[in-house]
Amino acid sequence: MAALKHFLQLMDLTREELDHIFVRTRWIKQQFKSYQQYWPLQDRTLVMIFEKASTRTRLSFEAGMQQLGGSAIYLNTRDSQLGRGEPVEDAAQVISRMSDIVMIRTFEQDIIERFAANSRVPVINGLTNEYHPCQILADIYTYIEHRGPIQGKTVTWIGDSNNVCNTWLQAAEVFDFNVRVSTPPGYEIEPERAGLHGTGHYEEFADPMIAARGADLVTTDVWTSMGFEAENDERLRDFADWQVDADMMKQAKPAAVFMHCLPAHRGEEVAAEVIDGPQSVVWDEAENRLHAQKALMEYLLLGHLETK
Ligand code: CP
Ligand code: NVA
Repeated sequence: MAALKHFLQLMDLTREELDHIFVRTRWIKQQFKSYQQYWPLQDRTLVMIFEKASTRTRLSFEAGMQQLGGSAIYLNTRDSQLGRGEPVEDAAQVISRMSDIVMIRTFEQDIIERFAANSRVPVINGLTNEYHPCQILADIYTYIEHRGPIQGKTVTWIGDSNNVCNTWLQAAEVFDFNVRVSTPPGYEIEPERAGLHGTGHYEEFADPMIAARGADLVTTDVWTSMGFEAENDERLRDFADWQVDADMMKQAKPAAVFMHCLPAHRGEEVAAEVIDGPQSVVWDEAENRLHAQKALMEYLLLGHLETK
């Protein structure tokens, strides 16, 4: 039985643990691609709690758990007591007595922290307003798969300083790479909210074209994240110059890759010519959610397994 560990933000795991998860991701992916059955989590149950919409996160966790031999149960706030005011601490006590691992997609990070503090089983952040660690786990694995180690590389983030951006900034500290960030005025990074220890791994640029210069990886995300829909019209105006298009990609290194966590809005944060173009790795990125999260669940439940 592995010691109780949660994955509420990327920095909850060390560089060594994350590197180990990447080794396991590669092996688990190979097994899956060669139709080899691998059921280390037989009889284990994952509970997935969604307070916001999802396609990839739900599918990758549910399919992933089944592929590891376990089962997954989907709960949402609309048709469970979670949406009717049951304290999160009580829900955590009950849910964690009936399951082996829990994944939560919710609003404030505080909700998932409170759940984890009252949980007997590992809790995984499937996206909060502040962080999206499973996404960046898959993204870094995808970068390594395409281009090798990310240490010392330059990642450019264009757009909103949201949950995905915050997690890239944490990853830069853990894996020792640089992030060049360009946000419109009023949407800048909040280092404390991003949970950063220092300021040495990122630089901010007023001009997104300058931010993209020399990048090894260019990435962006929607201008309006879930929970911020009331600001949509204002954001459409404020972010108009922060679209990743072919001219912006030309500023990056010729071998640069483009990533987007998806869902994407072509013609807003990204031009179709980029997301559907040769530098885009977004489909591998989405697929790797499955493999990386299987390795994450294996690690949280079974600890460090040797790769043959
Ligand atoms: N990228 C991501 O988390 O997608 P979903 O919102 O579809 O889960
Ligand atoms: N930043 C986006 C990511 C969606 C996967 C959101 O929070 O809505």
